[in-house]
Amino acid sequence: MTLACTAPSARNPLLRPALAFGLLAATLAAGTTALAADVAAVPKSAINAAVGTGATFQPPPESAIPNDDFGKAVKLGRDIFLDTPKYAGKYIGNTLSCVNCHTDAGRMAGSAPLWAAYVSYPAYRSKNKKVNTFEERLQGCFHFSENGTPPPLGSKTLVALQAYSYWLAKGLPTDEPVAGRGYPKLAAAPLPPDYVRGKAVYQAQCAVCHNANGEGRYVDGQTVFPPLWGAKSFNWGAGMGSIKNAAAFIHANMPYGQSYSLTPQEAWDVAYYMDAQERPQDPRWQGSVAATRAKFHDSKFSLYGQTINGKVLGDIGPPKKN
Ligand code: HEC
Ligand code: HEC
Repeated sequence: MTLACTAPSARNPLLRPALAFGLLAATLAAGTTALAADVAAVPKSAINAAVGTGATFQPPPESAIPNDDFGKAVKLGRDIFLDTPKYAGKYIGNTLSCVNCHTDAGRMAGSAPLWAAYVSYPAYRSKNKKVNTFEERLQGCFHFSENGTPPPLGSKTLVALQAYSYWLAKGLPTDEPVAGRGYPKLAAAPLPPDYVRGKAVYQAQCAVCHNANGEGRYVDGQTVFPPLWGAKSFNWGAGMGSIKNAAAFIHANMPYGQSYSLTPQEAWDVAYYMDAQERPQDPRWQGSVAATRAKFHDSKFSLYGQTINGKVLGDIGPPKKN
């Protein structure tokens, strides 16, 4: 079986950790050598999320991007995807790039790849109760995952992202189930997800990269490891704020380079812990946490509006304007 992403290119984000670790190692002050050693211990022969999705589709290699005006749009879309703060900064309100949650430049099966998404729209979404075009779906990730103000329909930014996704999907049929779309389904764990167990998983397996308080790590203002919660992360309306999505993403993709190494129980527990932390307000704010929960978070997979450690999650006032 051919798995997506067997041919790393210079831009292949599977090489990004190596780069990032180099940067980190170079800049770490004395006394943090343990961190550098831990990070360096991540296996080079990365097991990737595509394993186990049954995906056989292979998007075209970067070298096949045509050298014309269409190719320019494709390249811009790729650049926006890999470095969203730099190429679409005015539309976002945090430090995340699209690739942080859609790994390997949006190519990785099992990490909500762009090619599988592209051929699956227009589609009805219960999230906004209407049929969404692909462009509208892209806007959703700007609004919630990027905590921003989405680029207008037809804008250069959305056209470029659409061109890149379309180009990646070359040869796939439309409106057919695509192996590798979204995240591999994760079975319910034997025990209900738990904060205390999740915290232990976080400290042992995640903090080395994402930092003690989920704030991520930065070198010269560049995100090296993305923030999982706090002001610079995704907001309360984002898909990753559902424990179900987060557990599935984490199980298939984290710790980075060690896909499927956590037990389902560990993935559910650490997803619960991550989603039990404070983050930017849901932009669909209804004037109170209770009303916002009732309208948009009435699910056992959302901790928004729940009381954890004596604090009501999301009780941080109205959304800040970006
Ligand atoms: C914080 C994580 C995160 C970030 C950052 C993020 N996304 Fe997403 N994205 C998600 C999640 C979660 C889903 C839902 C996946 C699912 O339903 O299986 C999703 C879904 C999508 C989909 C639809 C996938 C499908 O198969 O229907 C597209 C397209 C998409 N994102 C594009 C983008 C773009 C473009 C950006 C950057 C502007 C971006 N995303 C940033 C988490 C993120
Ligand atoms: C070796 C470093 C490393 C470890 C350890 C690690 N991650 Fe990550 N994580 C990353 C990198 C790098 C990305 C961004 C991927 C990219 O841009 O290609 C990421 C992205 C993420 C994201 C999506 C982006 C965001 O900021 O929300 C989540 C969620 C996440 N990691 C959770 C976890 C959890 C939970 C653990 C522990 C089980 C973990 N990670 C362990 C390096 C790591």
